[in-house]
This record gives sequence, structure tokens and C-alpha cells, in this order.
Amino acid sequence: MTSTNSTQRDWLALEQKYYQHTFSRYPVTFERGEGVHLYAADGRVFLDLVAGIAVNVLGHCHPAVVEAIRKQAGELIHISNLYVNERQVELAEELFNVSGGMRAFFSNSGAEANEGAIKLARKFGRKYRKGAYEIISMDRSFHGRTLATTSATGQKKYQDTWLPLADGFKQVPFNDLEAIKAATTDKTCGILIEAIQGEGGIYPVSKEYWQGLREWCDKNDLVLIADEVQAGSGRTGKFFSWEHFGATPDIVTMAKGLAGGVPIGAMLAGERADIFEPGDHGTTFGGNPIACAAGVATIRTIREQKLLENATAMGAYLQEKLQGLQQKFSFVSGVRGYGLMLAFDIENAKAADVTKTAFDHNVLITNAGEKTIRFIPPLILNQKDIDQAAALLDEALSALA
Ligand SMILES: Cc1ncc(COP(=O)(O)O)c(C=O)c1O
Repeated sequence: MTSTNSTQRDWLALEQKYYQHTFSRYPVTFERGEGVHLYAADGRVFLDLVAGIAVNVLGHCHPAVVEAIRKQAGELIHISNLYVNERQVELAEELFNVSGGMRAFFSNSGAEANEGAIKLARKFGRKYRKGAYEIISMDRSFHGRTLATTSATGQKKYQDTWLPLADGFKQVPFNDLEAIKAATTDKTCGILIEAIQGEGGIYPVSKEYWQGLREWCDKNDLVLIADEVQAGSGRTGKFFSWEHFGATPDIVTMAKGLAGGVPIGAMLAGERADIFEPGDHGTTFGGNPIACAAGVATIRTIREQKLLENATAMGAYLQEKLQGLQQKFSFVSGVRGYGLMLAFDIENAKAADVTKTAFDHNVLITNAGEKTIRFIPPLILNQKDIDQAAALLDEALSALA
């Protein structure tokens, strides 16, 4: 179905004219989304395995989220953080329960959640480690686009243009405990890490490493910060991806899937690190009633519809299908991941060519770096969707073979 609006205006040309050229976008406008499908203005229907880059965990326009937003919009849209906000407390309560007792601070994005975590870690260093302020993060990591989170991100391509970076960050190789030990000094206040690296290419920590980090932080009065912005909100079959590895961090950051598509960020602190006092940190919009109502609806739906279980089962099924593609196409290798956060590597083509070819076959996938194809679909995905995705990907990869 093509709307009158779309036929009247050339949105692609207008976007070039009016929007800063910060994104290289696919030449498409979507008019409607439902479940795992997106409907383009030109009539094409796409199977969406990108989910707004790991955001639409319940698929597009899930009735529970739509209803929560509608209801909240009719009652109260914004009140600031000067007053108690019932929806904010409800969402904090849900997160307290799933995190084993962490208290929340809400922001509007993943980068902002990490900014809050960095400040909290510095306060911890000031209080317990004689003013230590430095944060160790990982090579290949991604933590956001603000200056501090760019400084924490372990990929030069995101950093080089913005030198000098913020002071107080250094990166070490992933999954290497000795490197952490060697990098820790009297200036170190914390370790920031994605338990499963997302943008870097879907690489998980080992259990020994994760537990080693916990012990190292306890021994040296450091905070362990888990960036769950991409891997959290149920994506990997557990609510937090670190639950796969058996030790609890002090601070957890979230965003993306948390409110089913409405912008939100969260920074959770366990008892050891819960040391912010009034005036330390703040935000105008963070924890806004609409975002929090959508967040509550999202978490309750994940629980009621058993979407963690679905992510585990469908993740295993999708992984099997991807392994089938790996056997068929010699240039596909390294199928990996947890739940519905999966990837494979491409050897003879650029990942961007594969995502473009898939796009031409009406399936949306995205890359994570030059050589990795990433699958981060809605958690409501079913076997039929996966069969269809595998058939479309087979066609797309055949076109590249
Ligand atoms: C692990 C991780 N942290 C932080 C961010 C930044 O989140 P946002 O784009 O919401 O600022 C991202 C975004 O991709 C991410 O994957």
C-alpha cells in the first residue's frame, strides 16, 4: 500500500537536502511495521532481522507497547525529575527484580547510560581508591558516540577524527586477564566491558575470564561495569548477557531493547557501587513517563510471553540454519553467538555487499565490522520466519558466490 504522501514527495532526495550526511542509508522509506515485517513505501515487504539495531525486541508496534504509550500519552507525557514518576518507579522495580537488587538511573540512550557509569566509577575511585579515575576497556569494544564513550571505545576508526580524546581511558585485549592485571595502576577505578561484544563482531567473554575480572575487581577495589546496551534486554536468552558467565557486575548499562523502540537508557548499580548522592548526576528527559511505560510493557511482555525461552530456542534453530549456509558456501565461516545475537564471517566479499544483496532479496541484516554479518532480530521470531530468512539468505549468498 503506497500512501499519497509518499507518492507526492521524493523523500530520498529531500533527506539529502535537509539532513546532515551522517548516515549512509539504504534507499528505502518504510511506512509501517508489524511484528518481524517492515512495509516499504514502494510496496516491498521486508523480513526484519535487524530490529532497529537490536532495539525492537518485541517486533514492530507490539500491541502491549503501543497500548502503554497511548495510555501514558493521554495521562502524562513529561514531568521532569523534580517529582516522583510512577512509571519510572515501576520500571526501576522491574529492573531491580531481574538484576538481583540493583537500583536504576534512567537516561535516553546507551552512550548516556555509559556516561553515567563512567561518572559513578570515578566517584567510586575518588571515595575508595585515593582519587583513581582511569577506566580500562577492551580492544574492539563499542560504547557510544559521546566524547567519553568514544574514548572508551576500542576501535580506532571511531576515535581518530576526534583526538585528543578524553583523559582517563585505556584499552587492552579482550579475554586476556593478564593484560588487565598489567594495565591496572593506582589510577584505575574500574573496568568497562561488553560480556558479548556487539559492534565489534559478536565475541563473548570466556567464563574463566569473566569470573577472573570479578575477583580482580574485588581484590583491588575496582568497579566492574557491564555494558549490556546491545546484549541485554533478553537478546541472548537471558535478561542480561553476563548471566551466561556466572559473576555479577557492580554497574550495568542498558538501552536499545529496554523500551521496545522508545528511546531510553538505564544505568543500574549494585549495593557496592550505589554511591551517587543528590546533585551528582541528572537529566531532563531521562526516565520520562512514556519511555518508562513502554519499558514496563516490554519487560512484562518478555516475561509473560516467555521470550527468553523463545530467544534460546529460536537462536538454536537460526544457528543451525546458519551452519547449513556455512556448509554450502565456502566463503561463510565462524557461525557463533548466544540466543538471538548471532553472526558469521564472510571471506571473499565485504560484509556490506552481503547486507546489500540480502536487502535486494527483501531481508534486512546488518554487519558488525568489515567481515562480519550480524543477526539481532526481534525476540518474537518463529520457525517459519527463520525458514523464510534462511531461504532468502541462501538466494542472496548464491548471488554472491
Ligand atoms: C554495546 C553498546 N554500548 C553503547 C552503545 C551506544 O548506544 P546509543 O547508540 O544508544 O548511544 C551501543 C550502540 O550500538 C552499543 O552497542
